[in-house]
Amino acid sequence: MSTNKSNNKLRATITGVGMYAPEKILDNKTLEKLVDTNDEWIRTRTGIKERRILEDGATSDLGARAAQDLLEKHNVDPKDIDVIIVATVTPDYFFPSTSCLIQNKIGASNAWAFDLSAACSGFLFALQTGTSLIEAGRYKKVLVIGADKMSAIVDYTDRNTCILFGDAGSAVLLEPTEDESIGIKDSILNVDGSGFESLHMQAGGSARPASVETVQNKEHFIYQDGKAVFKVAVKGMADVSVEIMEKNNLKSEDIAYLVPHQANLRIIDATAKRMGLEPEKVTINIDRYGNTTAATIPLCITEYYRDGKIKKGDNLILAAFGAGYTWGSIYLTWGLD
Ligand code: UT7
Repeated sequence: MSTNKSNNKLRATITGVGMYAPEKILDNKTLEKLVDTNDEWIRTRTGIKERRILEDGATSDLGARAAQDLLEKHNVDPKDIDVIIVATVTPDYFFPSTSCLIQNKIGASNAWAFDLSAACSGFLFALQTGTSLIEAGRYKKVLVIGADKMSAIVDYTDRNTCILFGDAGSAVLLEPTEDESIGIKDSILNVDGSGFESLHMQAGGSARPASVETVQNKEHFIYQDGKAVFKVAVKGMADVSVEIMEKNNLKSEDIAYLVPHQANLRIIDATAKRMGLEPEKVTINIDRYGNTTAATIPLCITEYYRDGKIKKGDNLILAAFGAGYTWGSIYLTWGLD
């Protein structure tokens, strides 16, 4: 589904960013000791050199620390937050939502909060949801968090998946603006539920509740048919990124950065190529964090903004593909000095 903004409406813009990546590093050399793999294969097939692992705590800790980083750096009182949206596929519990736990941890006592599940596209879906709440004129400060403790659902005896994922949390604050030159300008979000088989967790939900058998069969870990997902991800992410450019009459020279989901450097390169973008116009940190699912895109935004690379007035295209299948792109103009 596609949404377009008309000019006389309130627009949502990002007014703060924050991140948290745990200190513990799991590098490729260490993985060589766990499974039959090697540093060269991992780097050339995925672009990943190392990832972070949260030793103590849960996804709510990743999200809360990212939110606290944002609140401190941008001098925001947690009591002023109206809504918290948390994109995650590794919630602390089935219920209550991870957003409730984060609301309590950061002292956002006036906020209502909910989780959103869209896997690697979770941040884009949450950003569009937050944008719609702002545009409706009802809320002034919406905190959008992407956080995943992927190490909680990774089988470290499965070389197909254990090399890919890491833990992190990242957050952005959305506020209204009447400045038409900045803010979230367009989004294209897609779902194809027939992709379920290729990437999912087999047990633990109501379809297949946890049992001795499901634990013995290792059904509480990520299952991925990597090759199948790779094919559709390359096409899906490139198609939707080109589609949003064409829809908004954007040429490659109008775009400061593609901010892609960090699943595989080869998928990112193919997307950038289709968009006609030089490598220096693509945000990359997959080498240091691997695939942190809902956290990848805000993590890239936070790092590139703090390094002074993303500047006010820059046009960004965010793009992701993930389980579901879910995929999409968002076009925004950066409004923070
Ligand atoms: O973020 C959510 C969406 N997910 C994605 O976007 C992930 C999409 N998929 C991928 O990124 C890639 O498919 C992978 C990185 C998961 C795998 O890369 P690939 O180039 O598709 O490798 P492959 O699965 O086709 O395997 C090629 C070979 C196989 O050996 P043979 O059959 O050719 O002898 C695998 O057994 O590489 C072998 N292999 C490995 N070798 C060393 C698979 N995993 C490993 C490994 N280390 N970790």
